[in-house]
Amino acid sequence: MEARSASTFKEKTTINEELTITTSSNTKTVLITGASSGIGAKTAEFLASKGFTVLLVARRKEKLTTLVDQITSHGGKAHFFEVDLSIEQARIELINTLEKENQQPDILINNAGFGWYGHFETMNWQTGKDLIGVNIEAVAHLTHLVLPGMLQRGYGHIINMGSVAGKLPEQGIALYSSSKAFMDAFTTSLYRELRGSHVTVSVARLGPIQTEFFDAARSHENGGNVPAEKLAIPAEVVARGIYRLITHPHKVVYIPWYLSVSPLLEILFSGIIDLVGPLLLGKKKIQK
Ligand SMILES: NC(=O)c1ccc[n+]([C@@H]2O[C@H](COP(=O)([O-])OP(=O)(O)OC[C@H]3O[C@@H](n4cnc5c(N)ncnc54)[C@H](OP(=O)(O)O)[C@@H]3O)[C@@H](O)[C@H]2O)c1
Repeated sequence: MEARSASTFKEKTTINEELTITTSSNTKTVLITGASSGIGAKTAEFLASKGFTVLLVARRKEKLTTLVDQITSHGGKAHFFEVDLSIEQARIELINTLEKENQQPDILINNAGFGWYGHFETMNWQTGKDLIGVNIEAVAHLTHLVLPGMLQRGYGHIINMGSVAGKLPEQGIALYSSSKAFMDAFTTSLYRELRGSHVTVSVARLGPIQTEFFDAARSHENGGNVPAEKLAIPAEVVARGIYRLITHPHKVVYIPWYLSVSPLLEILFSGIIDLVGPLLLGKKKIQK
């Protein structure tokens, strides 16, 4: 495996109407998983506009190529790696390749992931296995692979893309919300373990965001419509939030910020949520 596509860096180049490359001083390298669409793609674009070198990882090569071309044509630095993160050996090869090419990430954004909505017993187990593989196993494994290097180099930031669902596990998303609860616990433990080491671990707890997430959830066998889709906000908001998190590292960030009340809802109203849960999920609606 080798890095695809590089570019030279130019200052003050407009990347689109909103994003302008403003700095040539930022030399940090950011590895972003799930960068072929949605939050990962927008974050890559935004961080590249701020002068970071972005390393994009996902399976859909065409989307990755287009994004790399877009970033590099506007003076940013980007490379892509076509990787199925559910495969252990592929993850190892990715990090080995980065080491060989001297592109060790200063920042890892564990963003790749997908959801599924419906009664848990109707989930195809292959979907369940894939969800655990990407949302949990790949996060732990990639972190395990990059952390020693970060500690050795004396700088690192690992950002885990969590969800308010991790603290507010509702009906229909049993395995997905569990995977995001993993993000919360994993982040908190590591954050405490790494205090004083110059490596920070953060979790971004997101609300509903306008991405392909909802289509992807429907595309898996028996997957239903995630109700929160109607409340989704643009992915650019997350990209800006992640940039702020990198420049001002801390343990937890809510995007949008007002969702910081969400853990309280579970504590205060869990009895009521238990009662209405089955009604909200309704009878099994199987979508092909
Ligand atoms: N959208 C929301 O409402 C929302 C809310 C809370 C949290 N989140 C979290 O935000 C993260 C990004 O999701 P999104 O909303 O941006 O959805 P998205 O547009 O569907 O993006 C998901 C990304 O994950 C990648 N991915 C999935 N399976 C993969 C695999 N096996 N190997 C490599 N890459 C894989 C996809 O790339 P390929 O298909 O090209 O491989 C894609 O780039 C996820 O962790 C999600 O749980 C989203």
